[in-house]
Amino acid sequence: MNKKLFDFIAKSPTPFHAVANVCETLENQGYTKLCESNKWALEAGKGYYVTRNGSSVIAFRIPEDDFSGFMLTASHCDSPCFKIKENAELADKYYVRLSTEKYGGMLCSTWLDRPLAVAGRVTLRTENGISVRLVDTKEPCAIIPNVAIHMNRNANDNMSYNPAVDMLPLFAAGEAKGSFKTLVAKAAGCEEKDILTTDLIVYNPQYGTEWNGYISAPRLDDLQCAFGALEAFVSAEKSASLPVYCLFDNEEVGSQTKQGAASTFIAAVLERISEGLGLSSAEHYAKVANSFMLSCDNAHAVHPNHPEYQDRNHAVYMNEGIVIKYNANQRYTSDAVSAAIFALVCEEAGVPFQRYANRADMPGGSTLGNIANTQVSLNTVDIGLPQLAMHSSYETAGAKDTEYYVKALTVFYGKSLVMENDGEYKLR
Ligand code: CO
Repeated sequence: MNKKLFDFIAKSPTPFHAVANVCETLENQGYTKLCESNKWALEAGKGYYVTRNGSSVIAFRIPEDDFSGFMLTASHCDSPCFKIKENAELADKYYVRLSTEKYGGMLCSTWLDRPLAVAGRVTLRTENGISVRLVDTKEPCAIIPNVAIHMNRNANDNMSYNPAVDMLPLFAAGEAKGSFKTLVAKAAGCEEKDILTTDLIVYNPQYGTEWNGYISAPRLDDLQCAFGALEAFVSAEKSASLPVYCLFDNEEVGSQTKQGAASTFIAAVLERISEGLGLSSAEHYAKVANSFMLSCDNAHAVHPNHPEYQDRNHAVYMNEGIVIKYNANQRYTSDAVSAAIFALVCEEAGVPFQRYANRADMPGGSTLGNIANTQVSLNTVDIGLPQLAMHSSYETAGAKDTEYYVKALTVFYGKSLVMENDGEYKLR
């Protein structure tokens, strides 16, 4: 399972690539592509998927018979990285650097002195407009060099990194000025003159590794959850509910984009499913009330050198199972009801779970569930897999946990939830 995860991560340097890989898996499983700009004709017993901006995707299966509600998982496919600005080259006589800005909140030091590659999408001029093409150089083509300790004696003490100065990648020697666009055109398989605009990033192309019970790889947050949920989605048994897989871009920058978790994407897709099946609006809202969402994003395992950062009573460890995340201020959606339902799912799957809460004096992060709930409100629990070094360019997690997660989510996707009144819930 972890080898498969590493392959998925290696093929998914950007959200565009992650979504393309998810779509490829779905195509291979017989799912039909829908387009938001067309009318949908949905058939019982069939699977479908729809993308938005090429960087978010929602897949679902229409049951043979009537269904009780939607069973959703949501994870994100973006990770902190450096976005390459449109006028990419910063050149002088000796060096060509890339003009970049931060995307999300990375651990800057982990991006230094490691080979970096370039990926993203370009738009190409066509006869009547534009067409989008994905690019990935795969091979390293840049590095962000440290300053030698001899020139910065403070390099090991409270270092701060200015993104406009310290974090600019070196691309080539001065005489190679102008060659960045050549490289991108080559990776896109097109002529330089046909490229109109770009969405490109530098990323860490290092392949994942399994060692002494742990896995280390780039982008485990949140491709580990995204990959595992897809495995579960495609292999789950038929149930009396309608399974939905959601993968969102832009979580790392707050989700408030047209394709992020705060967008209309989930709500619109669920409404169009109900409408396509001939349900009234009242019937649709009854289905939503019988729905359940797993908001899946990785969690912080106890750091071996810094156990003091964890709440003593809610410390979670790698290889000890799926994490249920709690936060009083509702940055995480888990409550007694949603956590109980997920606990039952884990029990049935024979998978361990653990409970996480931040120290009361540490605010912690946010994620997808609470944000998605502002557009379509349903019972939601925040879960994730325990990991170290979140937002490092190379993260570490437990070798056993991916499998636990796939097992539990496979059970979840084979279930349906019925709320008999606001206080009685049946999981079938
Ligand atoms: Co995340």
